[in-house]
Formats: sequence, C-alpha cells, structure tokens
Amino acid sequence: MDTSVKNRTALKGTITVPGDKSISHRSVMFGSLANGTTHITGFLTGEDCLSTVSCFKKMGIDIEIDGTNVTVHGKGLHGLSAPKETLDVGNSGTTMRLMTGILAAQPFSCTVTGDASIQKRPMDRVRKPLSQMGAEITGCGGEKLLAPLNITGHSLKGTHYTLPVASAQVKSAVILAGLYADGQTVVTEPEATRDHTEIMLNYLGADIKHEGKDITVTPVKELYAKDISVPGDISSAAYFMVLGAICPNSDITITNVGVNPTRTGIVTVLENMGADIALLNERTVCGEKVADIRVRYSPLKATVVEGDIIPKLIDEIPVIAVAACFAEGKTVIKDAQELKVKESNRIKTVVGELKKFGADIEETDDGMIIKGKCSLNGAVTESHNDHRIAMSMAVAAIMAEGESIIKNSECVDISFPNFFSLLENL
Ligand code: S3P
Repeated sequence: MDTSVKNRTALKGTITVPGDKSISHRSVMFGSLANGTTHITGFLTGEDCLSTVSCFKKMGIDIEIDGTNVTVHGKGLHGLSAPKETLDVGNSGTTMRLMTGILAAQPFSCTVTGDASIQKRPMDRVRKPLSQMGAEITGCGGEKLLAPLNITGHSLKGTHYTLPVASAQVKSAVILAGLYADGQTVVTEPEATRDHTEIMLNYLGADIKHEGKDITVTPVKELYAKDISVPGDISSAAYFMVLGAICPNSDITITNVGVNPTRTGIVTVLENMGADIALLNERTVCGEKVADIRVRYSPLKATVVEGDIIPKLIDEIPVIAVAACFAEGKTVIKDAQELKVKESNRIKTVVGELKKFGADIEETDDGMIIKGKCSLNGAVTESHNDHRIAMSMAVAAIMAEGESIIKNSECVDISFPNFFSLLENL
C-alpha cells in the first residue's frame, strides 16, 4: 500500500496512542506464565503483539481478544506445552528474543522463525548467555546465529552475565531464563535499558532486584495473575511530539502515555532542543509511570545525542532525525550502532530516505549528522517494510512542501495500526 501525505500547518488536538508495544508483549508472555487469569486493558493489537499471542496459543495457552481487552488464562511457570508447529514471530524481535529465554527452560524442543527481516537479525546475543545457563540453541548464519532457531530447553543454572551491548531484549531473555534456574542469576548492563520486564515480573510476584548496573533474579515458585493496564506507547507518541514541536502553531496533547524513565530520552532530547513540552497528571499504574504529554510549537536548536541516553530513545532516533532537519544548526547522533540491527538498518534507511526530501544529512559509522533549518520538498519515499521509517517519513512529509508518497506504508500495522487516520484527524 502507498499512502499520500500532504503538507499541513498548525496541528491541534488531544489524542491517545495505542498501547505500549513492549508492555503488551510482556503482559501476554508473563500472563501465560502466571497462575490464574490475567485481564489486560489497553493492549496493542498491532501485528507484533499478535505474533506473541499466536506463539503462546500454540503452546497451549488460552487467550481471548476483545478489542484492546485481552484475557490470558495462565498455566503457571511450568504449564506451557510443546507446540505442534513452528512458532512464527513475524517481524517481532521482542517476541523472538524474550520467548527464547522462556523456551530455554522448557522440557521440550521447538523451532522459532519469523519474516525476512527477523531472519537477518542477530540471535547470537541471546544464545551466548542462555547456553552459558545450559540451553541448547542452534540456527543458521554461523557466528551471527540467524533464525530459524531450534531451541531445546534444559534445567538451567544461575549465571552472571555482562551484556556486551545495552539491550532490554537480551537482558529480559536472561531474566526469564533466570526464573527457572537453580540459583540466582545476575545480569550487568553497560547502560540502563527499559525495565518493563523487571517491573511487571515483580508486580506478578517475582523477586528481581536492581542495584547499580546489576539486576539479580532469585527464582520463585510461582507468578500470580493480576490485572494489567497498558499505557500508551511513548514510541508511538513520539511522532506526534515531534510534529507538535516542529509544525508552527501546533498544540498537541497525548493522554495516558507511559513515561517510564528508561523510555523518556525523547522528552529530554526535545527539551534540550528547546521544545515546549509538559508532562501532566503524572501517576503510577501497575508499577509503570504514566502521564499526559502536551507539546506546543517552538523554534528548535540542534543538539548532540550520545552515550547512555541512546537506549532510552533507541526507537525514536528516526523521528529525532526528522526533528533535527528543522532545528537551527548541526545535530550529531552517535553511539547508535545498534540501529543497524533493527527492523531495517536504520542509519542507512533514515539517511537515504530523508535525502529524498532534500535534507542535509550524512551517515556516520555509529549514527548521523544533520544540518537543520532546511525546508524539505515532497518526495516518494520507501518504508523498507520498517514501521518506524514509514511513520518518521510521514512526519517529514507533513512538513515538506507539496505532496509525498510513502511506499509500502502498511507496515505501520506492526506497532500503530491507526497511525494515518489519527494523523488525518488532527
Ligand atoms: C524492546 C527493546 C529494544 C527496542 C525494541 C523493543 C523491548 O530493543 O528497540 O523495539 O521490548 O525489550 P533492544 O533492547 O534489543 O535494543
């Protein structure tokens, strides 16, 4: 599908964005492993989270979906059954990596695969710690270890693993395996990454402690089902935050957004650039911080995005690059080499696609350099089947002179099925 997007000014209104993708995945996975029935509200029914639902259904879990309400009939930590067919994670790296941590401890073998993009993404990063704990994981692609993966679960031993790259997916896989280990497991992070796994597992009765850069998992006998309310996804809100900040005379409020401090790098960066942002009605729901976010237009200046903030905004870098096109001066994004192993190589795809709009942007080995205060021209742009590229280019298109076409835009369904209609309504 191709979508036409036209230049617009003064975006105003109050919106809500769909549920947080990371929290939605975890609610189904951990609900499946809990004893009893979990009622989830605000679930993201994007394709990625539906892949998680389908995988756990194949392992014998009864899951009902009614709009954004999901009911998971958990069977306890040891209640999964061997799937009769291959588990297909679609485009979802989170499903693949977190589920591998769970499968590492099950008393059965199974095969896990996904779409063309998933089959190019490195899985060695989960095999290393999990095989150290006793799991058996084989796949294609030599060193990098590519899907399809064959996973044979075993009794696991506790371990101490230092993550070579900051990754919440890998950390979570080790924590999940650690729930089943014969003793404590410690994961050391180079930089803090999103901690939804720790928050939700503790909410369901686990014993996970965070001290400095170490996360310690002490196995418990059971997890206990509890209702879970999923807040709006700040990664989805980010497109509208940037639009509010760069589109003259805009005033956008996004209600009920998750503002866990491990996810709010986008707020810090936009504030550093001079954006007018307010977090209103801050509250805590199921252990997660939630707020309404109001963004009003104000002129932006360039910034440097680097170091330990990168994991806190890793999925927002494509749209931060768009914001930088409209900021006075030279914005530098570095330490972001992880972008190369996302749904697409996001350093290449962002730079290549923004150049089509006439942006002054250059690729570097670990990020990009953007010279801002340019005006963009309408363009025919390609999503590379990457949802975040499609939505970031839609933001560029709103700001560009004339009409733009976003090719293969249907991939927004991965994380934000109503993205274009919400944009239309503002
Ligand atoms: C996610 C972690 C991040 C992020 C992804 C979701 C998660 O990946 O990019 O979209 O839910 O744990 P890494 O932790 O691998 O960087």
